[in-house]
Amino acid sequence: MNSVFMRRSVREFDLTKKISYEALVELCKAAEAAPSARNQKGRAYIVLDDKKIIDELSSVSPGAKVLSNCNTAIAVIGSNPEALSTPHMQLQDLSCAVENILIEATERGIGSCYIGIYPLEDRINSCNEILKVMHPSFTFALVALGYPKEENVFYDKGKWSDDLLHHNRF
Ligand SMILES: Cc1cc2nc3c(=O)[nH]c(=O)nc-3n(C[C@H](O)[C@H](O)[C@H](O)COP(=O)(O)O)c2cc1C
Repeated sequence: MNSVFMRRSVREFDLTKKISYEALVELCKAAEAAPSARNQKGRAYIVLDDKKIIDELSSVSPGAKVLSNCNTAIAVIGSNPEALSTPHMQLQDLSCAVENILIEATERGIGSCYIGIYPLEDRINSCNEILKVMHPSFTFALVALGYPKEENVFYDKGKWSDDLLHHNRF
């Protein structure tokens, strides 16, 4: 399976199958293996397997409702931007980390869905409050995780189109 091509957003999970805490930690390690500007990192992770907290998070935005269908998730946290050498690159660093979670999850047969939080202040504040994330750290994104309800959810969606491709100059 080439996970980059097979990955897709999964929003329906088989709640009878649980992802182990250890596997969730491995997904965080995959996230932290992502590149970051000047290797500054500036990231932290919260493994979520408390259904009560996950249900609270499901109300932070319309798109977060997917969380009510799952019992595991990861919150990707940005750490103090002022402590970083290239703070203006922190958001890209965080995005790379989220993508690694999605790819590694796919590799393990785990379904995932990116839930956008940053830069919407009301969402950031709600997540920070629920997760006890203190300023200047901030919640960047949530990832819903679980074994897919449907079989064969991973397939190449054929997103590529040849007109996206340019050679040497745009
Ligand atoms: C920055 C970002 C924010 C997203 N936020 C949400 C969200 O809040 N809820 C959700 O269900 N999906 C969310 N998604 C998933 C997109 O809807 C999904 O990636 C897109 O429709 C393409 O489908 P695919 O992931 O199956 O290829 C988000 C994706 C990104 C990259």
